[in-house]
Amino acid sequence: MLRIAVLVSGGGTNLQAIIDGIRNGSIRDTEIAVVISNNADAYALERAKLAGIEGRCISPKSYASREDFHVALVEAIDSYKVDYIILAGYLVKIPENLIEKYPNRVVNIHPSLIPSFCGVGYYGLKVHEKVLERGVKVTGATVHFVDNGMDTGPIIMQKAVAVQNGDTPKVLQRRVMEEAEWVILPKTIDLLAAGKVRVEGHVTVVEND
Ligand code: GRF
Repeated sequence: MLRIAVLVSGGGTNLQAIIDGIRNGSIRDTEIAVVISNNADAYALERAKLAGIEGRCISPKSYASREDFHVALVEAIDSYKVDYIILAGYLVKIPENLIEKYPNRVVNIHPSLIPSFCGVGYYGLKVHEKVLERGVKVTGATVHFVDNGMDTGPIIMQKAVAVQNGDTPKVLQRRVMEEAEWVILPKTIDLLAAGKVRVEGHVTVVEND
């Protein structure tokens, strides 16, 4: 049974996709040990509660320093003895020592086709604004392992989404979530649980069913 911690900051629709996937069997042999948010008001915590999953808020604001916050976050995650840490819209920079402790075991979902529209300043709606500004015809989402860079870790899965005439950033964001994020993040977790993802150097080999 794969044990995962899911880190969230906002609405939790990607968390919900994972919860639903486990429930309907499309994500096999997996359990969510804990949901951790930096934001006490994140609706993602309500989703966890409704699903009977332990939810915790570990906020940088509750600690005297960023270092103290990092120590508390890593200690909390360690206590659940998880196999993978899933960043599902988690907007706080991950402590370097967490990535060192969990090499190629921290997974992130980014709402573009990396290496386009990613890196510092590219998160949430901003990504889709830049996509529309540049006028690309195809965007999408990427699931990748987290390394010490920003959106630079080995790519695990990607899914393309067409940009349509008249798209606004909000409309495009929703389509990317519905057609890409909520598909490839659950699928990735299912493949991780089946041991079908391996990393060779800086690239992955995925045995997709
Ligand atoms: C998603 O668009 C995700 O790609 C990005 O943050 C957003 C989180 O949405 N990282 P939700 O909290 O999962 O609804």
